[in-house]
Amino acid sequence: MPSMATGDRRNFNPNSNGTNNHPQFGPKLLNGDQKSDSFARRQKIEQQRRSLPIASVEKRLVEEVRKNDTLIIVGETGSGKTTQLPQYLFNGGFCRDGGTIGITQPRRVAAVTVAKRVAEECGVELGQKVGYSIRFEDMTSTSTRIKYMTDGLLLREALLDPYLSRYSVIVVDEAHERTVQTDVLLGLLKDVQKKRSQKTFSESNNNGTLVKEENNGEGEGSSVSVVKPHLVRKLNPLKLIIMSASLDARGFSEYFGGAKAVHVQGRQFPVDILYTTQPETDCLDAALVTIFQIHLEEGPGDILVFLSGQEEIESIEGLVRENLKKLPEANQKILILPLFSSLPSEKQMKVFAAAPVGFRKVILATNIAETSVTIPGIKYVIDPGLVKVRSYSPDSGIESLIVVKTSKAQALQRSGRAGREGAGKCFRLYPESRFEGLDDSTIPEIKRCNLSNVILQLSALGVDDILGFDFMEKPDRMTVIRSLELLYLLGALTDEKKLSDPIGHQMARLPLEPNDSKALILASQFDCLEEMLIVVAMLSVESIFYAPRDKLEESRTVIKSFSSPEGDHLTLLNVYRASLEFLEKNKMENSKEKAEKNLRKWCKDNFINSRSLKHARDIYNQIRENVERMGLKISSCGDDMVPLRRCLAASYFLNAALKQPDGTYRVLANGQIAEIHPTSVLRRAKSECIIFYNLVQTTRNYVRNLLPQLSRFSRPIPTEIDSGVLPTPRRKFVNTVRGSDFPEISLDDLAIEFFSGKGNNSE
Ligand code: CDP
Ligand code: MG
Repeated sequence: MPSMATGDRRNFNPNSNGTNNHPQFGPKLLNGDQKSDSFARRQKIEQQRRSLPIASVEKRLVEEVRKNDTLIIVGETGSGKTTQLPQYLFNGGFCRDGGTIGITQPRRVAAVTVAKRVAEECGVELGQKVGYSIRFEDMTSTSTRIKYMTDGLLLREALLDPYLSRYSVIVVDEAHERTVQTDVLLGLLKDVQKKRSQKTFSESNNNGTLVKEENNGEGEGSSVSVVKPHLVRKLNPLKLIIMSASLDARGFSEYFGGAKAVHVQGRQFPVDILYTTQPETDCLDAALVTIFQIHLEEGPGDILVFLSGQEEIESIEGLVRENLKKLPEANQKILILPLFSSLPSEKQMKVFAAAPVGFRKVILATNIAETSVTIPGIKYVIDPGLVKVRSYSPDSGIESLIVVKTSKAQALQRSGRAGREGAGKCFRLYPESRFEGLDDSTIPEIKRCNLSNVILQLSALGVDDILGFDFMEKPDRMTVIRSLELLYLLGALTDEKKLSDPIGHQMARLPLEPNDSKALILASQFDCLEEMLIVVAMLSVESIFYAPRDKLEESRTVIKSFSSPEGDHLTLLNVYRASLEFLEKNKMENSKEKAEKNLRKWCKDNFINSRSLKHARDIYNQIRENVERMGLKISSCGDDMVPLRRCLAASYFLNAALKQPDGTYRVLANGQIAEIHPTSVLRRAKSECIIFYNLVQTTRNYVRNLLPQLSRFSRPIPTEIDSGVLPTPRRKFVNTVRGSDFPEISLDDLAIEFFSGKGNNSE
């Protein structure tokens, strides 16, 4: 095990003589068999807890947290950090002042699954002592003391409560992932910690609220703000714990002024690494072959396959099922379990359960299984060596999802998943020479994503100078400028770089990407918010349609019945409306469960991914609640799609692309060439100009979810954009055709004209 690079290194050697003294919580009242089942399960869980590497160092960890306001804990994945540490701190009295222990996760999946697990370990109902809170879903109550949440959610809480006064301890988990939210959070927490140690608070009990008095000696003057009643308690300094699976704690330690780092030793059995002799051309096929090779040739043990996204997972899932049928019955005992972030959480939880006797689990996961969740039973790992990441080009201001090679650190982390419970094997689906050429570690997301959202959030927190913010790693200047520009173009920022009123403030309140927020806000003005909510919800799930290889033609015909010549957004709206109509009708005659079951059948018949549709329905409900709370007017435009298209065009106009003679499209903002994604309804009926929602890069560039231009151009479309220097409130779209007399026209006006169907020569 490589050593940690700080002078403060501690090796906590695990031993499993389990002298822990975990308090027992009364079991829930159950009857008969349930009671004994539950008792046996509790005993098993208690035994598992005691055997975790971290268990032997409980007391020392609690002591270190007591002594240090900021502590860095580094430990092997699976050693028990995420599930155990918060319980140790709770038992160690860190909530005695009424404070909560908050643990942030970069991923929703981890927040939910871990909270469920910990609630079970504590023998309490989820949402009581142990709870979770993720975007749009709050499973906490006033009695919650151990609260798992996404890092983004904690950032939002800071908007309402700048001192994060409900927390006595905040644990930033999986910090090595360096998501952009984690990086922002680290800077913010550093600041909150400082503010909390500088201020004194006094309680005013006359109306049950807490009055904060500024006393930071910096002569800011005194401001008084009222915090929610349940926060009435004295504020202690904020304890901050940074947890990470990777081995470089030095960066974190330096950032936190030389904070102490401790190392929890994990248990790692040897893992045999196997490479392919040749590079694979079709990774999915290679993964499929390897799954069966392991299943037929290797001993018992579950298989974990790392794939880049829901689509790949579902396509392999189908292929495994198909091929399985061809095997002799004795060899068919495979349990396929997908795991990706938008999977409903009941389904996610299935990966943790043991397979029935004689069965082998095959878990098809995105890189959430890399460190965020530890799945018991894994002996074989299949690693195609790819990962889907966000990528941003400041030149164009366009963010895309691209599939890239993993870093060495990721490859090691993935193979490590095979050696948790015994010796394992990792099948890397690439030649050894390629491994040597991989980057050592992954570039932090803040270096490769659009920062508009971060800027919105920080502006709402009163941080106007994003380049001056104390980031662990500064974002690129050009990226910041581009991101600011987008916000200007969307009308979210004023010339003084302040949030505009009301649009900027409203956008900051919505937990969505700025373009999506803008679309919703505009839609409420143009009386089509009902439809826009559906469109935004549908766009936020990965794939609504599925077209199995063996039924390609049939699926195309069926899907056609939903398709709209006005593009994919409206097609998605049609699907949603049709499914809703089906469900409503069914509910009149059937129970809710039966109606849902029938809906799944309806989806299957219509080649719609019922999982994705369900997810979109959830998101719809959640965003709807949000906009209702904000007081936005929700009304419907009925069958008149003009206002909806106008709002879409005015929100996503930067993503315009122009058809080229060869049928490909040129993205106006950066000149990049892309093809229409095969799933788009505009695949054949190609429009002169389109606005895309996503740009996906694999071996080719694809644009998907498209809005076609509906008006014929009354003037040639300008093909170059003058990249105006800030602070231009609107980037001018200047026609460069020499000698022509077309007036300057702003990009958004142009977009609205062409895409709304209300322009000249409307067809
Ligand atoms: O955070 P770290 O990677 O150190 O470990 P953890 O997430 O606390 O997981 C410790 C152990 O709890 C794992 O080895 C899993 O076997 C188990 N666990 C589980 O069974 N079900 C969950 N939902 C989460 C963890
Ligand atoms: Mg963990």
